[in-house]
Amino acid sequence: MGDFIWRPEYSVGDEHLDQQHRGLIELIDMLGDESRMGEVLERLEIYVDEHFRDEEGMLDKAGYPDLTAHKQQHKAFEEWLAVSRRAFREPEVSGMLRESIRAYLKSWLVNHIMVSDKDYASWLD
Ligand SMILES: [Fe+2]
Repeated sequence: MGDFIWRPEYSVGDEHLDQQHRGLIELIDMLGDESRMGEVLERLEIYVDEHFRDEEGMLDKAGYPDLTAHKQQHKAFEEWLAVSRRAFREPEVSGMLRESIRAYLKSWLVNHIMVSDKDYASWLD
């Protein structure tokens, strides 16, 4: 654990959202411990539900013009998470499934925060 950490360049300029992003990164960093993957997926579901709704609410208030597309990205992630949790509940979880879950989560999070979330930063004050 510890190779996936929050960096100042991830900041979207809002303390509450930055704090939630830190929490997400911490959760995904826990994937360094193989035995905690099931727990991480479960906690992610609860966590992203709260975070995505907070983020979407703030962007709606701020009049962010690309909110519909942003919401679609959140929805696609939630769908991926539901499918992954189902696959993970199977009695035999292959190393390949574990690896693809881990790789997807890391790249999704960094890309989403660094590109899509950064894009709304100037709309929040
Ligand atoms: Fe987002």
